[in-house]
Amino acid sequence: MRLNDCHNFQDFRRLARRRLPRPIFDYIDGGADDEVTMRRNTSAFDTCALVPNVLRGVSDVDLSVTVMGQKLDLPFYLSPTALQRLFHHRGERATAAAAERFGTMFGVSSLGTVSMEELARKHSTPQVYQFYFHKDRGLNRAMMETARQSGIKVMMLTVDSITGGNRERDLRTGFTIPFRLTAGGMYQFAIKPGWGLNFLTHEKFSLPQLDAHIDMKGDSLSISRYFTEMLDPTMNWDDVARMVAQWNGQFCLKGIMSVADARRAADIGCTGIVLSNHGGRQLDGSATGFDQLDDIVQAVGHRLDVLIDGGIQRGTHVLKALSLGAKAVGLGRYYLFPLAAAGQAGIERALGQLKSEVVRDMRLMGARRVSDLGRENLRYVAVG
Ligand code: LAC
Repeated sequence: MRLNDCHNFQDFRRLARRRLPRPIFDYIDGGADDEVTMRRNTSAFDTCALVPNVLRGVSDVDLSVTVMGQKLDLPFYLSPTALQRLFHHRGERATAAAAERFGTMFGVSSLGTVSMEELARKHSTPQVYQFYFHKDRGLNRAMMETARQSGIKVMMLTVDSITGGNRERDLRTGFTIPFRLTAGGMYQFAIKPGWGLNFLTHEKFSLPQLDAHIDMKGDSLSISRYFTEMLDPTMNWDDVARMVAQWNGQFCLKGIMSVADARRAADIGCTGIVLSNHGGRQLDGSATGFDQLDDIVQAVGHRLDVLIDGGIQRGTHVLKALSLGAKAVGLGRYYLFPLAAAGQAGIERALGQLKSEVVRDMRLMGARRVSDLGRENLRYVAVG
């Protein structure tokens, strides 16, 4: 199986599984507990069906949107995700370059493996900085300052990870950062020599957003322990209101799910929210962004930009979210498997396919621009 054989999300996932050592594949692929929410993120889109209009003259289709003041050529963006150089030696460098090629936004994580400064210097496409609120207030201040000085326009605070989700695949494989090899893990790395060679012959793994503040050399940390030990569980609305005021620019909360919280985000001056359950990696049994989208857009859509992420695998998923009023849709595993499978070329192929699907589906829906889509384009259906 090669890149040219990849025609959809599942194909890229299969190719990534072949390339990656099992603990790394499972880290990307897995969710919390029984992974019910992770699966529902995708199947929730089946709870409603598209109702097309015809004979609208759809030769030109314009996919551009404006999200938190940023003009994007596409209604989907690359969400911030952690540890990308573990998946492919170019990591965030490949992700940012592919996003720029498609004129869309990408995110850099607090747990990113390339510095936000470098990416901001090299790329003009909008960049989001994903912020984790650490116990170490000095670290929080420093990250904000670096983001500001780098010219990053959108701050995105993740609010659904106040403690680590129960990711049993990681418990089984012993996945940690920087990873330690268990006997089983060692075998897995040995049978993926291509990955091992790339990893060993490229720049040493590091977490540039955190390295100056956290010494992880002597220790290795599971993601769950990172959340539980390093992040501040006292974080509350007052802390966030202060951050929003300090940042004094585009500020977005990622991981909002209730209407009440969406209203509060608007009250404290956020300019965006992402309805997200963290790819089903935190609270299993949680609702999905898509489940909550209609109510939240009705409640606060006129006050801030509502985005969603989780489970997007098809152009029709994007169209359904846009029809309910999402301003844009975030991708996670959708680009991570292609990154692992083939680096920048993989991501570009996957983004190109999603773009073609969305253009084709817009035409089939009788929509020439995103604003032509509305709630009347959807019918809720019972799913068996
Ligand atoms: C995760 C974090 C790091 O889901 O975003 O693994």
